[in-house]
Amino acid sequence: KIDGSQLWFTNTELNAETIKACPDYIYLSQKSETYNIIKKELQDNLNTLFNKDVKVIKKLKPGSLCVGTTAQKNLTTYFSDSELKELGNDGFIIRTVKNNNTIIIANTEIGALYGTYHYIRLLQTSKDDLVNLNIVEVPSYDRRLLNHWDNLNGTVERGYAGHSLWQWDELPATISPRYEAYARANASIGINGSVLNNVNASPDILKTEYLNKVSVIAKVFRPYGIKVYLSVNFASPSVIGGLSDANPKSADVIQWWKDKAKEIYTIIPDFGGFLVKANSEGQPGPNDYGCTHADGANMLADALQPYGGIVMWRAFVYNPKGNDRAKQSYDEFMPLDGQFRSNVIIQVKNGPVDFQPREPISSLFGQMKHTTLMPELQITKEYLGFSDHLSFLGTLFKEFLDTDTYTEGRNTTVSKVTDGSVFNDSITAIAGVANIGLDTNWCGHHFAQANWYVFGKLAWNNQLSVRDVAKEWLMQTFSHDEDFVSSMSRVMMESREAVVNYMTPLGLHHLMGWGHHYGPEPWCVIEGARPDWLPTYYHKADSIGLGFNRSSTGTNAVAQYAEPLKSVYDDPKLCPEELLLWFHHLPWDYELNNGKDLWTELCYRYNLGVEQAQQFEETWNTLQNKVDMDRFKEVQQKLATQVREAIWWRDACVLYFQTFSDRPIPHELFKPV
Ligand code: GCU
Repeated sequence: KIDGSQLWFTNTELNAETIKACPDYIYLSQKSETYNIIKKELQDNLNTLFNKDVKVIKKLKPGSLCVGTTAQKNLTTYFSDSELKELGNDGFIIRTVKNNNTIIIANTEIGALYGTYHYIRLLQTSKDDLVNLNIVEVPSYDRRLLNHWDNLNGTVERGYAGHSLWQWDELPATISPRYEAYARANASIGINGSVLNNVNASPDILKTEYLNKVSVIAKVFRPYGIKVYLSVNFASPSVIGGLSDANPKSADVIQWWKDKAKEIYTIIPDFGGFLVKANSEGQPGPNDYGCTHADGANMLADALQPYGGIVMWRAFVYNPKGNDRAKQSYDEFMPLDGQFRSNVIIQVKNGPVDFQPREPISSLFGQMKHTTLMPELQITKEYLGFSDHLSFLGTLFKEFLDTDTYTEGRNTTVSKVTDGSVFNDSITAIAGVANIGLDTNWCGHHFAQANWYVFGKLAWNNQLSVRDVAKEWLMQTFSHDEDFVSSMSRVMMESREAVVNYMTPLGLHHLMGWGHHYGPEPWCVIEGARPDWLPTYYHKADSIGLGFNRSSTGTNAVAQYAEPLKSVYDDPKLCPEELLLWFHHLPWDYELNNGKDLWTELCYRYNLGVEQAQQFEETWNTLQNKVDMDRFKEVQQKLATQVREAIWWRDACVLYFQTFSDRPIPHELFKPV
């Protein structure tokens, strides 16, 4: 039964050309848990795709697909030493050589596994000339991680796909089959790390009882090349360790973390490291003791260092007192540049505020030149309609990665300043906040699976075209039908912009309801809401105009960017229209490039978002005979919800802003029902 649980391993269509590419044999001479996976994947896939029983052989024969590592000298003769060296730990080559043999080679078994999944993907998408392959793949980032915001009680913070995958109550005795299915899905797209628990971390995760549970998950993940990491609560030494405080300068606290690290590595020898949210949104941290983020991070880093562990210290610091939340992370972290240990990496959200449908890049990227930084993206759609709206995040991720920071001259994009191309980073990493839960289809919306997929693909290769990724995902998940793939890839590519239009066009942000972050609430008047959620903190609507003045005449957040970004953002005539109201407060009659005034354009954009959502629904409805009935209906219902809610967003925001603009809604819009 096709129900979405198979993720991107669903479709088994092949085109005629691909059918010719079936190897006669699979040559695998080594044995290990990872090789068993390689063997099973190849046999299962070749058998289903080609309907042919392809035998595994131990002595090389013509017509073989050979998989192995550089330890096998009979395979390496077809490759130069330097090209093999450049593959590093995870890279691979797939090359067709003489006698109609195709070799998948890597320096490690995990690299060979990645090569295997790549090869299977080529078959599944019938993509290349499969009888004459020469592919070299080396990942952009060494560490490609999912962050789960999963609580130990089974709930998931900002999770919209059911409860947590991790069955803490049943572990370590019972091992859910979902753990392996998860590991397989991740390995197939190159993800090699998983932070199991919420950044708002319960100290309990470091109790021996939980470490024993974690070690069982780590064991399932290991042959798939996935390391386990944990979010830790900075106050753990006092909360579970019985110490009087968690001061990073206290000898007892330092010793507590050293002992804990030793225990962790005894139980989980390949443990990846810690993720830390400190002194943000009420979480404890080194500032509680008059110490800096660097003091805190370095203390933990020293404890993990003997075992090769790392600390991912988050730059998402937030306290509501300042006049511009967008500046806070830069203000706190820039003075610490160069003070972190080499096994610390600062994990920075893509934008300066919080995973909005559109934000400029965080100004820290490229600016902290003596500290290693990693991007944090959000795959779960906290502010983009949860798992109810179809919005493909590939375009958001790519826009961010491709943004030029200019910090080391032209073409020093976020990709390049984080993947080691510009700075000599000791660690390179990227994280995505997972959208995975116990739902049958894993992610709540069938199309939300594509966001997990595209995150993994970009973590592997940050230069990929996300349109190609969307197409390849559609082919593997649904169908090879050309009309289907071209129609739905168009929808996917447009979908994030549609959400921006009906929620927060022209650089608006944070108009979502307080607490849940779902529907519109730019008027928030809830008692107890954080100060920055109160009306007008972000949009600053008044009788004169709209937008947050972060220019040099306002909070001067623009000064945090390198030139020419700083001057471009500072000048409303140069600032990209998509970010206009992020950086400027402009009069309602301000004239935009297309000649329309701000108020009229705002109304147009909101309405355009609705029209786009309607178009997505119409497109889907034309594809009924190309998709299995269950998934067709499920997506259809979600798209109907999306249209309804796009209208809700448009009407709520336009009518609310009209109370400030006091201008009529352009009559050609919003026809009476
Ligand atoms: C957002 C989100 C919180 C989360 C926080 C974080 O504010 O709403 O749920 O804890 O980000 O990233 O730490």
